[in-house]
Amino acid sequence: MRSCVVAGCLLFLFSYAAAYDPLDPTGNITIKWDVASWTPDGYVAVVTMNNFQMYRHIMSPGWTLGWTWAKKEIIWSMVGAQATEQGDCSKFKGNIPHCCKKTPTVVDLLPGVPYNQQFTNCCKGGVLASWGQDPQASVSAFQISVGQAGTSNKTVKLPKNFTLLGPGPGYTCGPAKVVPSTIFLTPDGRRKTQASMTWNVTCTYSQFLARKHPSCCVSFSSFYNDTITPCASCACGCENKNKCIKSDSKLLSVVGINTPRKDNAPLLQCTHHMCPIRVHWHVKTNYKEYWRAKIAMTNFNYRMNYTQWTLVVQHPNLNNVTQVFSFDYKPLVPYQAINDTGMFYGMKFYNDLLMEAGQFGNVQSEVLLQKDKDTFTLKQGWAFPRKIYFNGDECMMPPPEAYPFLPNSANQSLVHFSTLINSIFFLLIVWIW
Ligand SMILES: *[C@@H]1O[C@H](CO)[C@@H](O)[C@H](O)[C@H]1NC(C)=O
Ligand SMILES: *[C@@H]1O[C@H](CO)[C@@H](O)[C@H](O)[C@H]1NC(C)=O
Ligand SMILES: *[C@@H]1O[C@H](CO)[C@@H](O)[C@H](O)[C@H]1NC(C)=O
Ligand SMILES: *[C@@H]1O[C@H](CO)[C@@H](O)[C@H](O)[C@H]1NC(C)=O
Ligand SMILES: *[C@@H]1O[C@H](CO)[C@@H](O)[C@H](O)[C@H]1NC(C)=O
Ligand SMILES: *[C@@H]1O[C@H](CO)[C@@H](O)[C@H](O)[C@H]1NC(C)=O
Ligand SMILES: *[C@@H]1O[C@H](CO)[C@@H](O)[C@H](O)[C@H]1NC(C)=O
Ligand SMILES: *[C@@H]1O[C@H](CO)[C@@H](O)[C@H](O)[C@H]1NC(C)=O
Repeated sequence: MRSCVVAGCLLFLFSYAAAYDPLDPTGNITIKWDVASWTPDGYVAVVTMNNFQMYRHIMSPGWTLGWTWAKKEIIWSMVGAQATEQGDCSKFKGNIPHCCKKTPTVVDLLPGVPYNQQFTNCCKGGVLASWGQDPQASVSAFQISVGQAGTSNKTVKLPKNFTLLGPGPGYTCGPAKVVPSTIFLTPDGRRKTQASMTWNVTCTYSQFLARKHPSCCVSFSSFYNDTITPCASCACGCENKNKCIKSDSKLLSVVGINTPRKDNAPLLQCTHHMCPIRVHWHVKTNYKEYWRAKIAMTNFNYRMNYTQWTLVVQHPNLNNVTQVFSFDYKPLVPYQAINDTGMFYGMKFYNDLLMEAGQFGNVQSEVLLQKDKDTFTLKQGWAFPRKIYFNGDECMMPPPEAYPFLPNSANQSLVHFSTLINSIFFLLIVWIW
């Protein structure tokens, strides 16, 4: 049994470490700079950030974009975003630049800024929806006027070393690459204009870079067995166990206890798993032609509301979803051959906000699936999902031997068989290493 747990963990770590996400193989955030015009000492560019990730969004407090100028460029002005620090502009008299730092750090403006500081798709506090959930809200843009720069496509030097926080670490950005100039269509659709020059930067996410531990865990139950399979202990790391807060603590009535902190540090309810999010999958009913599962998500972080949450589930029967009751649902088909994955998300203004820990800190729904008689079974944990992602981060599953069994089933031998398989896998992995 022990080797089974170890092998399970190793397998988990493998998928966790890879920057490549098999369920969203082309997922990325692309940052495009369109030089709109050349100026006497540089250029004016429109910077557009597109979130092409199917189910990973950028939550409040939003994105932070950084880069290093190739020469001595400065930012004269920005519309729709701002540099967080001006830096040393003491060389300038009269016209003072917006930012003189070699490595500027740029953030979005907040909603409701004066009209003359706004730009199309700006001013959302840096929040970007995922492409799968809301493509229209997955774009952010601002305008930047750059000085002391090249003034033609031959003399301009591309900024280097792009960094993206979304809002925490996890993204790695490639180098800027000149791409064919963007063609813009005027709003009436009757005239095309063209950028003088365009370059793109692509950033990809790796959960391994983002954090040491998973940030969510999965628990199971079923109508056919009273056992609840809990989240694995310390699934999200127990280093901060002494900083957690009991659900009946008097501290919870202190004013301001829920106020988010600038560094986004969580304040977790004490649990044996120490995860901010738990996803529970309950196999609820077995009908003749259909079966029904209940999905519930619980927030254990007192300092975080999860807005526009997404839940990705991989299960062989998701190719035949009949009805989803109170979430929105969209199948994910990264390749023709993969049709067992789908994404759930909240209905706008109804349950797209997963509230802070406490009485209201949960959302739930049920899903009705049509049975395929050749594959459906309640045995061997088949009815439980293979993989779960919350907000694009893979959640820790319980160890396979802890899944609820069918009562009096003669499946002990099968369990031993799977232990054997796992042991072989484990030896194989050790051998590869
Ligand atoms: C980024 O995502 C877009 C949309 O999915 C895709 O077309 C493009 O190839 C991706 N770029 C990279 C470098 O993966
Ligand atoms: C550059 O980025 C834009 C999105 O901002 C994308 O539509 C375009 O395909 C990208 N071009 C290349 C060559 O990657
Ligand atoms: C630079 O611009 C000129 C004129 O617009 C164009 O002919 C040329 O192909 C461009 N060069 C590059 C490297 O984009
Ligand atoms: C790129 O940026 C990172 C973080 O800002 C910094 O540590 C690194 O030294 C930079 N590299 C270069 C070549 O500027
Ligand atoms: C979560 O949202 C509710 C309702 O909008 C608000 O009252 C509460 O302060 C928010 N909590 C946090 C931690 O932001
Ligand atoms: C789903 O994928 C499986 C395995 O790749 C394939 O056999 C099946 O035909 C697919 N079903 C549909 C409806 O595309
Ligand atoms: C759903 O299941 C039914 C019954 O097994 C089958 O006829 C149908 O083709 C399935 N649909 C898909 C999309 O796989
Ligand atoms: C329920 O499942 C557990 C494993 O999680 C197993 O130990 C137990 O025997 C099962 N209960 C029944 C009544 O079969």
